[in-house]
Amino acid sequence: MSTTSARVLGSLSRHAQPPPPANERFARSPVLTQPKGEAMHTADGRELVLRNIEPGDVAAVQRCFKRLPAQDVRRRFMHAMSELPAPMAQRLCRIDPELEAAYVLMDETVTPAELRGVGRIFIDVAANSAEFSVLVEREWSRIGLGALLMQRLVDECRRRGLGELWGYVLMENRPMLELCKELGFVATMLPGEAGTAQIRLAL
Ligand SMILES: CC(C)(COP(=O)(O)OP(=O)(O)OC[C@H]1O[C@@H](n2cnc3c(N)ncnc32)[C@H](O)[C@@H]1OP(=O)(O)O)[C@@H](O)C(=O)NCCC(=O)NCCS
Repeated sequence: MSTTSARVLGSLSRHAQPPPPANERFARSPVLTQPKGEAMHTADGRELVLRNIEPGDVAAVQRCFKRLPAQDVRRRFMHAMSELPAPMAQRLCRIDPELEAAYVLMDETVTPAELRGVGRIFIDVAANSAEFSVLVEREWSRIGLGALLMQRLVDECRRRGLGELWGYVLMENRPMLELCKELGFVATMLPGEAGTAQIRLAL
């Protein structure tokens, strides 16, 4: 063997790695998935991911419902409910994107990931308006998440060119009435429904 070929072989044996066996080539690579949603950092240092609701969120929605105090269930659904039936949870997660939008705030620091807040709109095409609903889990309240979700809903309505965003709110629901007032909504009493106000924002 010449000196030159001995030098080349030497350098190959130092630097070239034999390829891994075929069955290990991809198993060794880290799986790179696109992160879903936007990372949110709360003022008190907690982290959440804001994203669109998905059909796979049913179990998280049901667990969230089980953690809610009866008062928040009544404030969100406008009547008492002891459980969230599976068909309803499925319906809430499988939206029609033409007529609905729903954003969830997911806590991915725990396993399984938990839903801490959700805001949604149902669009009435004929009236060119949308009805909202919003919910933030108690332990995550008063840190701006309700306002953030409502602002997303307002932005989404504007993006779709809708003229009004509205919702029903119980008169005893001071947190929601205050939140809506801060965002510029106007409340009107519903005739014949003493305990309920209709809250409206012209867009
Ligand atoms: C109403 C609700 C969404 C508020 O969510 P939240 O994340 O706590 O709201 P925020 O932290 O964004 O608060 C925004 C503003 O709302 C008002 N607000 C919120 N909670 C309040 C409370 N307990 N008392 C008085 N005002 C309150 C305040 O003006 C607050 O601004 P500030 O914190 O600067 O004073 C939440 O309490 C909830 O999910 N309630 C149960 C479901 C419900 O009522 N949904 C509405 C009908 S669809």
